[in-house]
Amino acid sequence: MRPLIVIGNWKMNGNLASNQDWIKTVARGMERGMPSGRKYAVCPPFPYLSQCAGLIKDISLAFLSLGAQDASAHIAGAYTGEVAASMLKEMGCQYVIVGHSERRQMHQEVDEAVAAKALQVLDAGMTPVICVGETADERNSGRAEEVVCGQIAKQVSVLQDRLADCLIAYEPIWAIGTGKVASAQVAQDMHHAIRHQLAEFDEDVAAHVAILYGGSVKPDNAVELFAMPDIDGGLVGGASLNPQDFLAICQA
Ligand code: PGA
Repeated sequence: MRPLIVIGNWKMNGNLASNQDWIKTVARGMERGMPSGRKYAVCPPFPYLSQCAGLIKDISLAFLSLGAQDASAHIAGAYTGEVAASMLKEMGCQYVIVGHSERRQMHQEVDEAVAAKALQVLDAGMTPVICVGETADERNSGRAEEVVCGQIAKQVSVLQDRLADCLIAYEPIWAIGTGKVASAQVAQDMHHAIRHQLAEFDEDVAAHVAILYGGSVKPDNAVELFAMPDIDGGLVGGASLNPQDFLAICQA
């Protein structure tokens, strides 16, 4: 049985004061009780990881883990501006998002680099959250499944059995930050296709890997999405900035 996982991706948002308010509000909500068998994490920008790790520890917020939004494909060295996976581990991260479409589009990240980042994250003892997804044009021309399964195939070819220790996030690019959520059935169909693709490599890996949906997840659509058999939780951007909305999605 795969646990349901909800991960908040703050992107480039937050500040010292609002982060503190967010974590205290989420802590109060989680202390009132959360559904069992679920996992929750939040991914603040790099400079706030230490602050958020400290707050989570001080409040003894056992329910909430910390994650980061990216990691370098390299171990260490002359890579100005990059952050090594080992550093994120030291800061208390358990999850690292890799291959988010905003990084693929704005920083020209290709599948090979995404797989190299995932390997670094695994080697540092954390869980990569590998993002895949198609553009509106690719969907409208009937190529959505081919594109997404192609992205998965590249990850399989590099990561092999280690995929069992990764999470996958299906994030249709046309649904990210647009308010245009994929219908639960459209999302389920793609999650099923991803799982089928994984099963061609290894049935155990396919059964074990959690596949999260991302793209305009909100409190009012999370219940329907999470009820789908191949949707194992959500990667939540905009709605995760509001602690009450994040809590509502975690409880959906
Ligand atoms: P969104 O972003 O929830 O704001 O659509 C999701 C994501 O980019 O991970």
